[in-house]
Amino acid sequence: MVKSLNCLISAGPTREWIDPVRFISNPSSGKMGYALASEAYKRNFKVNLVSGPVLLPIEKGIYVTYVESAEEMSIAMMSQFNEADLIIMCAAVCDHKPTKMWSQKRKKADFPPSIELVPTQDILFELGKRKKENQKLIGFAAETESCEENAKKKLNLKNLDWIALNDVSIKEIGFESELNEVTLYSSSEKKVKLSIATKEELAEQIFDIITK
Ligand code: PMT
Repeated sequence: MVKSLNCLISAGPTREWIDPVRFISNPSSGKMGYALASEAYKRNFKVNLVSGPVLLPIEKGIYVTYVESAEEMSIAMMSQFNEADLIIMCAAVCDHKPTKMWSQKRKKADFPPSIELVPTQDILFELGKRKKENQKLIGFAAETESCEENAKKKLNLKNLDWIALNDVSIKEIGFESELNEVTLYSSSEKKVKLSIATKEELAEQIFDIITK
């Protein structure tokens, strides 16, 4: 019997709580990551999805671990990383979190004028350090300026095989939208521009390229 390959995908935002009613986050809906998970499942991968808080149904057959914070996402990704053949980090992980979370709701009158933040762990960077020869690691880059330059920097810094650049300054695509448009860059200096399409169509095209 042929053993199916394992695909590990992250999707959605993370939430970094300030107090029980407030958090730092971003507008990721999870649609791009869920479309990639669905495409992987169609291609007979065993799919493990690590999902931030989103309102999307999960397809039967896909294993999902729900997380909230960057720290929880990191633990879930690290613990499933060694078993994975293909890893795609599509989640919009918050880069910063408050130094502390208040256990009670801060009243408006004593809400601090500024909140001290510390960086979260760069999960993809850590995965890149642990990557083995038989694993393929794919990242996304959400950029608003110097897009190609910044995406290529992330490709190299995080030891990725491919990176999908998302120019999120374009309102019709990226965060929350049904549509997306990405340019893929590989560590072997290939560049493939994929035109605007639904996230499902793009997921299919992305898989054609990264699994070639
Ligand atoms: O969810 P949707 O509404 O469908 O929107 C899709 C999307 C815009 C969120 C998606 O296509 C996308 O671009 N995801 C990456 C968002 C992001 O965090 O990009 P970044 O350039 O800040 O990070 C670069 C890479 O490092 C990403 O693969 C990210 O998952 C990873 N990262 C970032 C920060 C961090 N602390 N840990 C990480 O692993």
